[in-house]
Amino acid sequence: MHSILTTSLFLSLAVLSTAVPIPFSLATKDTALTEAQLLQIAPTSNTCDNAPAKGECATAKTAATFVSQSFSDYKVTNKAEQAAILSLMAFESDDFKYNKNHFPGTPGQGTRNMQSPAFNKKYANSIPALKDKIAPVANSPADLLDLLRDNETYDFGSGAWFLTTQCSKDVRSALQDGSETGWQQYISSCVGTSVTDERKQYWERAVKALGV
Ligand SMILES: *[C@@H]1O[C@H](CO)[C@@H](O)[C@H](O)[C@H]1NC(C)=O
Repeated sequence: MHSILTTSLFLSLAVLSTAVPIPFSLATKDTALTEAQLLQIAPTSNTCDNAPAKGECATAKTAATFVSQSFSDYKVTNKAEQAAILSLMAFESDDFKYNKNHFPGTPGQGTRNMQSPAFNKKYANSIPALKDKIAPVANSPADLLDLLRDNETYDFGSGAWFLTTQCSKDVRSALQDGSETGWQQYISSCVGTSVTDERKQYWERAVKALGV
């Protein structure tokens, strides 16, 4: 068993300005992903039969729809950035089988990139449609996470939100080059965790699947 879901997305240096509200829209050719691409990246996401956690699993087909939508909403059109986000989400969620942290089970840590509760709070507050729903859950990280998990748009949108609002310009421009160094910087300086062989394998599959 590899070490997924154990890392918390701690943010270090680079925190950018608050997110600009984004109108939700449909994916275009620059942002559309296929089920086949997602299967290449997350090979066990073909089915949710016998899923390990009740109500958390999503298939490659569902992931393709909602990640495409998030790339469109957050204007992530660069393939190298898309590959980085997708590989992070596929790795952290164990091929989309989880959207809550289970090991050790940090309350409020989740969505598909397994971001930590503080980021989920920021993220929820950036979504105009959730404006009136946040107050009742503001003191419960677990309930706030459930609000985000309840809607696939938000559940799958956190990876694109995180990159576009929480990573520095420098991290983004290095990442956009498509180099391994750029990806490593994204993992270490923005996501705030370390590169492992398994993370790298996810990233390599994503680079290949998207033709970076
Ligand atoms: C999920 O959120 C999107 C974007 O705010 C919204 O358009 C959609 O209706 C929501 N879906 C559900 C099932 O509430």
